[in-house]
Amino acid sequence: MTPTETLHLTASAADLARAAALLGEGQLVAFPTETVYGLGADARNGRAVAAIYEAKGRPSFNPLIVHVADAETARLYVEWSDTAEKLAGAFWPGPLTLVLPLRPGHGISDLVTAGLQTLAVRVPAHPTARALLREFGGPVAAPSANLSGRISPTTAAHVLAGLSGRIAAVIDDGPCPVGLESTIVGLAGAPALLRPGGVAAEAIEAVLGADLVRPEAGSAISAPGQLASHYAPAARVRLNAGSPRPDELFLGFGPMDCDLNLSANGDLAEAAANLFGHLHRLDARGRPIAVAPIPGDGLGAAINDRLRRAAAPRE
Ligand code: TXA
Ligand code: MG
Repeated sequence: MTPTETLHLTASAADLARAAALLGEGQLVAFPTETVYGLGADARNGRAVAAIYEAKGRPSFNPLIVHVADAETARLYVEWSDTAEKLAGAFWPGPLTLVLPLRPGHGISDLVTAGLQTLAVRVPAHPTARALLREFGGPVAAPSANLSGRISPTTAAHVLAGLSGRIAAVIDDGPCPVGLESTIVGLAGAPALLRPGGVAAEAIEAVLGADLVRPEAGSAISAPGQLASHYAPAARVRLNAGSPRPDELFLGFGPMDCDLNLSANGDLAEAAANLFGHLHRLDARGRPIAVAPIPGDGLGAAINDRLRRAAAPRE
Protein backbone atom coordinates (compact mmCIF):
# COMPACT_ATOMS: atom_id res chain seq x y z
CA MET A 1 0.00 0.00 0.00
CA THR A 2 1.32 3.47 -0.89
CA PRO A 3 1.22 5.62 2.22
CA THR A 4 -0.55 8.89 1.51
CA GLU A 5 -1.59 11.92 3.45
CA THR A 6 -5.37 11.67 3.87
CA LEU A 7 -7.15 14.85 2.72
CA HIS A 8 -9.73 16.17 5.18
CA LEU A 9 -12.48 17.53 2.89
CA THR A 10 -15.72 19.37 3.63
CA ALA A 11 -19.13 19.02 1.94
CA SER A 12 -18.55 22.18 -0.18
CA ALA A 13 -19.17 21.92 -3.93
CA ALA A 14 -15.45 22.39 -4.63
CA ASP A 15 -14.46 19.62 -2.21
CA LEU A 16 -17.13 17.23 -3.56
CA ALA A 17 -15.81 17.83 -7.09
CA ARG A 18 -12.33 17.03 -5.81
CA ALA A 19 -13.60 13.86 -4.10
CA ALA A 20 -15.43 12.74 -7.27
CA ALA A 21 -12.24 13.32 -9.28
CA LEU A 22 -10.26 11.20 -6.82
CA LEU A 23 -12.82 8.37 -7.18
CA GLY A 24 -12.44 8.67 -10.96
CA GLU A 25 -8.68 8.19 -10.57
CA GLY A 26 -9.26 4.97 -8.63
CA GLN A 27 -8.54 6.51 -5.23
CA LEU A 28 -10.38 5.73 -1.99
CA VAL A 29 -12.67 8.38 -0.50
CA ALA A 30 -14.54 7.98 2.79
CA PHE A 31 -17.89 9.78 2.85
CA PRO A 32 -20.83 10.17 5.24
CA THR A 33 -24.07 8.29 4.69
CA GLU A 34 -27.12 8.40 6.95
CA THR A 35 -26.05 5.02 8.40
CA VAL A 36 -22.25 5.05 8.86
CA TYR A 37 -19.25 6.50 6.98
CA GLY A 38 -18.51 4.46 3.84
CA LEU A 39 -15.11 3.80 2.27
CA GLY A 40 -15.83 4.45 -1.40
CA ALA A 41 -14.18 3.31 -4.62
CA ASP A 42 -15.30 3.16 -8.25
CA ALA A 43 -17.13 -0.21 -8.35
CA ARG A 44 -16.10 -0.74 -12.00
CA ASN A 45 -12.40 -0.41 -11.22
CA GLY A 46 -11.02 -3.68 -9.83
CA ARG A 47 -7.80 -2.12 -8.59
CA ALA A 48 -9.68 0.56 -6.73
CA VAL A 49 -11.92 -2.09 -5.17
CA ALA A 50 -8.90 -4.18 -4.23
CA ALA A 51 -7.51 -1.12 -2.49
CA ILE A 52 -10.62 -1.11 -0.25
CA TYR A 53 -9.90 -4.65 0.95
CA GLU A 54 -6.26 -3.70 1.39
CA ALA A 55 -6.92 -0.49 3.34
CA LYS A 56 -9.43 -2.26 5.61
CA GLY A 57 -7.46 -5.49 5.96
CA ARG A 58 -10.80 -7.10 5.10
CA PRO A 59 -11.27 -10.84 4.36
CA SER A 60 -11.71 -11.06 0.60
CA PHE A 61 -14.88 -13.18 0.77
CA ASN A 62 -16.89 -10.22 2.04
CA PRO A 63 -18.84 -8.74 -0.88
CA LEU A 64 -19.48 -4.97 -0.89
CA ILE A 65 -22.54 -2.77 -1.22
CA VAL A 66 -22.71 -0.55 -4.32
CA HIS A 67 -24.06 2.97 -3.77
CA VAL A 68 -25.84 4.84 -6.55
CA ALA A 69 -27.57 8.21 -6.88
CA ASP A 70 -31.04 6.84 -7.73
CA ALA A 71 -33.04 3.73 -8.63
CA GLU A 72 -32.63 4.39 -12.37
CA THR A 73 -28.88 4.04 -11.98
CA ALA A 74 -29.30 0.86 -9.88
CA ARG A 75 -31.27 -0.70 -12.74
CA LEU A 76 -28.19 -0.46 -15.00
CA TYR A 77 -26.47 -3.08 -12.85
CA VAL A 78 -29.16 -5.46 -11.55
CA GLU A 79 -32.20 -7.36 -12.79
CA TRP A 80 -35.04 -5.22 -11.47
CA SER A 81 -38.32 -6.71 -10.28
CA ASP A 82 -41.77 -5.65 -9.08
CA THR A 83 -40.72 -6.37 -5.49
CA ALA A 84 -37.57 -4.27 -5.94
CA GLU A 85 -39.70 -1.45 -7.34
CA LYS A 86 -42.05 -1.65 -4.35
CA LEU A 87 -39.27 -1.58 -1.75
CA ALA A 88 -37.21 1.07 -3.56
CA GLY A 89 -40.34 3.20 -3.88
CA ALA A 90 -41.00 2.96 -0.17
CA PHE A 91 -37.48 3.18 1.30
CA TRP A 92 -35.06 4.80 -1.20
CA PRO A 93 -33.27 7.00 -0.66
CA GLY A 94 -32.61 5.44 2.74
CA PRO A 95 -30.97 2.73 4.85
CA LEU A 96 -32.16 -0.29 2.84
CA THR A 97 -29.87 -2.45 0.67
CA LEU A 98 -31.38 -4.76 -1.95
CA VAL A 99 -29.56 -7.87 -3.18
CA LEU A 100 -30.57 -8.64 -6.77
CA PRO A 101 -29.26 -10.78 -9.65
CA LEU A 102 -26.50 -9.07 -11.67
CA ARG A 103 -27.52 -7.82 -15.08
CA PRO A 104 -25.52 -9.04 -18.12
CA GLY A 105 -22.93 -6.45 -19.16
CA HIS A 106 -23.13 -4.76 -15.75
CA GLY A 107 -19.45 -3.73 -15.70
CA ILE A 108 -19.13 -4.10 -11.91
CA SER A 109 -15.79 -5.56 -10.77
CA ASP A 110 -16.25 -9.10 -9.48
CA LEU A 111 -14.13 -8.19 -6.50
CA VAL A 112 -17.21 -6.19 -5.44
CA THR A 113 -19.46 -9.25 -5.42
CA ALA A 114 -16.68 -11.61 -4.27
CA GLY A 115 -17.70 -13.85 -7.12
CA LEU A 116 -21.45 -13.98 -6.35
CA GLN A 117 -24.02 -13.67 -9.15
CA THR A 118 -25.92 -11.09 -7.13
CA LEU A 119 -25.21 -7.47 -6.27
CA ALA A 120 -26.09 -5.50 -3.14
CA VAL A 121 -27.22 -1.96 -4.07
CA ARG A 122 -28.55 1.01 -2.19
CA VAL A 123 -29.43 4.69 -2.67
CA PRO A 124 -28.31 6.50 0.49
CA ALA A 125 -30.39 9.37 1.84
CA HIS A 126 -27.55 11.55 3.16
CA PRO A 127 -27.46 14.76 1.08
CA THR A 128 -23.65 14.75 0.94
CA ALA A 129 -23.53 11.10 -0.19
CA ARG A 130 -26.14 11.85 -2.86
CA ALA A 131 -24.29 14.96 -4.05
CA LEU A 132 -21.04 12.97 -4.31
CA LEU A 133 -22.75 10.12 -6.20
CA ARG A 134 -24.37 12.57 -8.64
CA GLU A 135 -21.08 14.39 -9.17
CA PHE A 136 -19.20 11.11 -9.71
CA GLY A 137 -21.95 9.71 -11.92
CA GLY A 138 -21.04 6.03 -11.41
CA PRO A 139 -21.46 3.16 -8.95
CA VAL A 140 -19.47 3.47 -5.72
CA ALA A 141 -18.59 0.32 -3.77
CA ALA A 142 -18.39 1.18 -0.09
CA PRO A 143 -18.10 -0.92 3.03
CA SER A 144 -18.07 0.84 6.38
CA ALA A 145 -14.91 2.96 6.62
CA ASN A 146 -13.19 1.08 9.45
CA LEU A 147 -10.43 -1.49 9.72
CA SER A 148 -11.93 -4.95 9.27
CA GLY A 149 -13.47 -6.33 12.42
CA ARG A 150 -13.51 -2.99 14.25
CA ILE A 151 -16.44 -0.75 15.16
CA SER A 152 -18.23 1.02 12.28
CA PRO A 153 -17.41 4.76 12.07
CA THR A 154 -20.13 7.37 12.62
CA THR A 155 -17.83 10.42 12.51
CA ALA A 156 -14.89 11.49 10.32
CA ALA A 157 -12.69 11.25 13.43
CA HIS A 158 -13.57 7.53 13.75
CA VAL A 159 -12.61 7.07 10.07
CA LEU A 160 -9.28 8.81 10.52
CA ALA A 161 -8.50 6.89 13.71
CA GLY A 162 -8.38 3.66 11.66
CA LEU A 163 -7.59 4.71 8.10
CA SER A 164 -5.54 7.93 8.23
CA GLY A 165 -2.63 7.58 5.77
CA ARG A 166 -4.29 4.56 4.12
CA ILE A 167 -6.92 6.41 2.02
CA ALA A 168 -6.88 9.49 -0.23
CA ALA A 169 -9.57 11.55 1.50
CA VAL A 170 -12.42 11.72 3.98
CA ILE A 171 -15.39 14.05 3.54
CA ASP A 172 -16.25 15.35 7.00
CA ASP A 173 -19.92 16.25 7.37
CA GLY A 174 -20.54 15.52 11.03
CA PRO A 175 -22.07 12.49 12.75
CA CYS A 176 -24.28 10.00 10.90
CA PRO A 177 -27.95 10.43 11.89
CA VAL A 178 -29.01 6.74 11.84
CA GLY A 179 -25.75 5.37 13.22
CA LEU A 180 -26.46 1.76 12.25
CA GLU A 181 -25.84 0.04 8.91
CA SER A 182 -28.55 -0.48 6.30
CA THR A 183 -31.00 -3.36 6.47
CA ILE A 184 -30.12 -5.92 3.76
CA VAL A 185 -32.97 -7.70 1.97
CA GLY A 186 -32.23 -10.51 -0.47
CA LEU A 187 -34.49 -10.48 -3.54
CA ALA A 188 -32.74 -13.14 -5.63
CA GLY A 189 -35.25 -15.66 -4.20
CA ALA A 190 -38.12 -15.24 -1.74
CA PRO A 191 -37.59 -11.87 0.01
CA ALA A 192 -35.24 -12.57 2.92
CA LEU A 193 -33.81 -10.51 5.77
CA LEU A 194 -30.03 -10.92 5.34
CA ARG A 195 -29.00 -8.30 7.91
CA PRO A 196 -31.14 -6.29 10.32
CA GLY A 197 -30.37 -2.56 10.18
CA GLY A 198 -31.64 1.00 9.89
CA VAL A 199 -35.08 0.11 8.48
CA ALA A 200 -37.10 -2.14 10.82
CA ALA A 201 -37.98 -5.53 9.27
CA GLU A 202 -41.59 -4.97 10.33
CA ALA A 203 -41.79 -1.82 8.15
CA ILE A 204 -40.51 -3.79 5.14
CA GLU A 205 -42.99 -6.60 5.77
CA ALA A 206 -45.80 -4.03 5.95
CA VAL A 207 -44.89 -2.77 2.45
CA LEU A 208 -44.48 -6.31 1.06
CA GLY A 209 -47.69 -7.49 2.68
CA ALA A 210 -45.77 -10.68 3.54
CA ASP A 211 -43.21 -11.97 6.02
CA LEU A 212 -39.51 -11.86 5.18
CA VAL A 213 -37.66 -15.17 5.32
CA ARG A 214 -35.50 -14.85 8.43
CA PRO A 215 -32.32 -16.78 9.10
CA GLU A 216 -32.48 -18.83 12.31
CA ALA A 217 -30.56 -17.17 15.11
CA GLY A 218 -26.94 -18.36 15.21
CA SER A 219 -27.37 -20.56 12.13
CA ALA A 220 -25.63 -20.42 8.75
CA ILE A 221 -24.07 -17.08 7.83
CA SER A 222 -26.77 -15.33 5.81
CA ALA A 223 -24.97 -12.40 4.22
CA PRO A 224 -21.43 -13.60 3.51
CA GLY A 225 -19.21 -11.58 5.78
CA GLN A 226 -21.62 -11.63 8.69
CA LEU A 227 -18.75 -13.05 10.69
CA ALA A 228 -19.51 -13.61 14.35
CA SER A 229 -16.85 -11.21 15.59
CA HIS A 230 -17.27 -8.58 12.85
CA TYR A 231 -18.17 -5.64 15.06
CA ALA A 232 -15.63 -6.15 17.81
CA PRO A 233 -14.28 -3.40 20.02
CA ALA A 234 -10.90 -4.22 21.60
CA ALA A 235 -12.50 -4.57 25.07
CA ARG A 236 -14.42 -7.65 26.26
CA VAL A 237 -18.18 -7.07 26.04
CA ARG A 238 -20.79 -8.74 28.33
CA LEU A 239 -24.47 -8.50 27.33
CA ASN A 240 -27.76 -8.36 29.26
CA ALA A 241 -26.01 -7.19 32.41
CA GLY A 242 -28.24 -6.11 35.28
CA SER A 243 -25.33 -4.19 36.79
CA PRO A 244 -21.57 -3.83 36.13
CA ARG A 245 -18.89 -5.86 37.90
CA PRO A 246 -16.26 -3.76 39.71
CA ASP A 247 -13.81 -3.71 36.75
CA GLU A 248 -16.47 -3.05 34.08
CA LEU A 249 -17.78 0.11 32.44
CA PHE A 250 -21.59 0.06 32.12
CA LEU A 251 -23.42 0.93 28.91
CA GLY A 252 -27.03 1.59 29.89
CA PHE A 253 -30.45 1.73 28.25
CA GLY A 254 -33.44 3.39 29.89
CA PRO A 255 -33.38 5.28 33.19
CA MET A 256 -30.41 3.90 35.20
CA ASP A 257 -27.04 4.68 36.72
CA CYS A 258 -24.33 3.98 34.10
CA ASP A 259 -21.15 5.29 32.44
CA LEU A 260 -22.88 6.07 29.15
CA ASN A 261 -26.54 5.63 28.25
CA LEU A 262 -27.71 4.57 24.76
CA SER A 263 -31.04 6.27 25.51
CA ALA A 264 -32.05 7.38 28.99
CA ASN A 265 -35.73 7.39 28.01
CA GLY A 266 -35.58 4.01 26.26
CA ASP A 267 -35.85 5.24 22.64
CA LEU A 268 -34.45 2.57 20.26
CA ALA A 269 -33.78 5.01 17.38
CA GLU A 270 -31.73 7.19 19.73
CA ALA A 271 -29.96 4.08 21.01
CA ALA A 272 -29.10 3.01 17.44
CA ALA A 273 -27.68 6.46 16.66
CA ASN A 274 -25.54 6.33 19.81
CA LEU A 275 -24.45 2.68 19.60
CA PHE A 276 -21.10 2.79 17.79
CA GLY A 277 -20.08 6.17 19.21
CA HIS A 278 -20.69 5.01 22.79
CA LEU A 279 -18.85 1.73 22.16
CA HIS A 280 -15.89 3.70 20.74
CA ARG A 281 -15.87 6.00 23.77
CA LEU A 282 -16.03 3.18 26.32
CA ASP A 283 -13.53 1.06 24.36
CA ALA A 284 -11.03 3.96 24.49
CA ARG A 285 -11.05 3.70 28.31
CA GLY A 286 -9.48 0.24 28.11
CA ARG A 287 -11.79 -1.67 30.50
CA PRO A 288 -14.34 -4.45 29.85
CA ILE A 289 -17.83 -3.27 28.95
CA ALA A 290 -21.12 -4.52 30.44
CA VAL A 291 -24.27 -3.70 28.45
CA ALA A 292 -27.78 -3.42 29.92
CA PRO A 293 -30.57 -5.48 28.27
CA ILE A 294 -32.00 -3.89 25.09
CA PRO A 295 -35.52 -4.85 23.89
CA GLY A 296 -35.52 -6.98 20.71
CA ASP A 297 -38.37 -5.34 18.77
CA GLY A 298 -38.00 -2.92 15.82
CA LEU A 299 -34.51 -1.38 15.65
CA GLY A 300 -33.69 -3.34 18.82
CA ALA A 301 -33.17 -6.43 16.62
CA ALA A 302 -30.33 -4.70 14.76
CA ILE A 303 -28.84 -3.23 17.93
CA ASN A 304 -28.79 -6.66 19.60
CA ASP A 305 -27.34 -8.21 16.43
CA ARG A 306 -24.44 -5.71 16.53
CA LEU A 307 -23.95 -6.20 20.26
CA ARG A 308 -23.85 -10.00 19.93
CA ARG A 309 -21.08 -9.60 17.32
CA ALA A 310 -19.21 -7.20 19.62
CA ALA A 311 -19.44 -9.79 22.41
CA ALA A 312 -18.61 -12.86 20.28
CA PRO A 313 -15.40 -14.77 21.03
CA ARG A 314 -12.52 -13.42 18.90
CA GLU A 315 -10.89 -15.42 16.11
O1 TXA B 1 -25.24 1.13 5.82
C1 TXA B 1 -24.50 0.41 5.13
O2 TXA B 1 -24.93 -0.55 4.51
C2 TXA B 1 -23.01 0.80 5.09
C3 TXA B 1 -22.90 2.16 4.40
C4 TXA B 1 -21.47 2.55 4.12
O3 TXA B 1 -23.67 2.17 3.23
N1 TXA B 1 -22.24 -0.18 4.39
C5 TXA B 1 -21.97 -1.41 4.92
O4 TXA B 1 -21.14 -2.19 4.15
O5 TXA B 1 -22.42 -1.79 5.98
P1 TXA B 1 -20.36 -3.45 4.70
O6 TXA B 1 -19.39 -3.80 3.61
O7 TXA B 1 -19.78 -3.18 6.04
O8 TXA B 1 -21.43 -4.57 4.77
C6 TXA B 1 -21.89 -5.15 3.57
C7 TXA B 1 -22.75 -6.33 3.88
C8 TXA B 1 -21.94 -7.55 4.28
O9 TXA B 1 -22.57 -8.24 5.34
C9 TXA B 1 -21.96 -8.38 3.01
O10 TXA B 1 -21.75 -9.72 3.26
C10 TXA B 1 -23.33 -8.06 2.46
O11 TXA B 1 -23.45 -6.69 2.68
N2 TXA B 1 -23.43 -8.29 1.01
C11 TXA B 1 -22.84 -7.58 0.04
N3 TXA B 1 -23.13 -8.11 -1.17
C12 TXA B 1 -23.92 -9.16 -0.94
C13 TXA B 1 -24.55 -10.13 -1.78
N4 TXA B 1 -24.41 -10.10 -3.10
N5 TXA B 1 -25.31 -11.08 -1.19
C14 TXA B 1 -25.46 -11.11 0.15
N6 TXA B 1 -24.88 -10.23 0.99
C15 TXA B 1 -24.12 -9.28 0.45
MG1 MG C 1 -18.82 -3.08 8.10
